[in-house]
Amino acid sequence: MQKFFSAADIDNLSEAVQEALTLKANPRAHAELGKHKTLGLVFLNPSLRTRLSTQKAAIQLGMDVMVMNMDKDGWALETQDGVVMNGTTVEHIREAAAVMGEYCDILGLRSFPSLKDKEADYTEDLFNKFIKFCGVPVVSLESATRHPLQSLTDLITITEHKTVDKPKVVLAWAPHVKALPQAVPNSFSEWMGKAQQQGLVDFVIAHPKGYELSQEFTEGVNITHDLNEALAGADFVYVKNWSSFEDYGKVYPVEEDWLITNKTLEQTNAAKVMHCLPVRRDLELSAEVLDGPHSLVIKEASNRVWAAQLVLKRMLENLK
Ligand code: CP
Repeated sequence: MQKFFSAADIDNLSEAVQEALTLKANPRAHAELGKHKTLGLVFLNPSLRTRLSTQKAAIQLGMDVMVMNMDKDGWALETQDGVVMNGTTVEHIREAAAVMGEYCDILGLRSFPSLKDKEADYTEDLFNKFIKFCGVPVVSLESATRHPLQSLTDLITITEHKTVDKPKVVLAWAPHVKALPQAVPNSFSEWMGKAQQQGLVDFVIAHPKGYELSQEFTEGVNITHDLNEALAGADFVYVKNWSSFEDYGKVYPVEEDWLITNKTLEQTNAAKVMHCLPVRRDLELSAEVLDGPHSLVIKEASNRVWAAQLVLKRMLENLK
């Protein structure tokens, strides 16, 4: 594996999940694989889970890890070509990425969208330049349009906790006070759409009108504006806010109540509730659900390690 960026980078989802669960059963089984190899984790935005779980995964594979907080510790980065750098930017991504590639065998990059320039965000301009100029395999730690380590984790978690062969999985839009990226729901939809094609789940998206995701990520997926219709018989409810794709980065007032509570979950098949975290309690998801028996959020976050370890293992095997 040379890059891990989207669902297209994993062919057989069942095999990948089983491999991740095998790593979970024996975390240090491949502790020699990463010996004398260096992972560099580059953050242009904050992180708790992605940072720590990917570091832990690398350590369990025997790797050395370096973390670079570009937003706080790096030189202000220029990403456009052909500009005279006489403003606030100090270092071009051409040199910055190339230099980091000299120090590391594998790199990870987190880079959120601007939510202002749809074209630059959806062409993954910055991420693609980083891949092009660093010259080593790259793991997405969340890009402008996708969060594949999160989605692989989510599939692992659903597989572990399902009580029926082919569970009904609902992606449910949730309220928020800020404009959030579409990366997590895009990615979840991409991965669950692929899981549905491979016969692993039945997948439905529920969101208010105006919050349609890009069709690129929802091909062949059932979409409804009726939360209760989606929740009926659901085995898993994946709660997430996102801003408008069409009216890019905008937030509309929503009159109906989209907050998931114990009451709304009564119509499900005792659904397990997931959220990628961080979550705003009683705004995005009710505290009673987060603290109750429906919640999988901590187990889900814990599984981030095994998704990262699977991806790093496959990349290390490819380096040899
Ligand atoms: N879910 C997730 O990616 O968490 P962090 O932003 O804390 O890494």
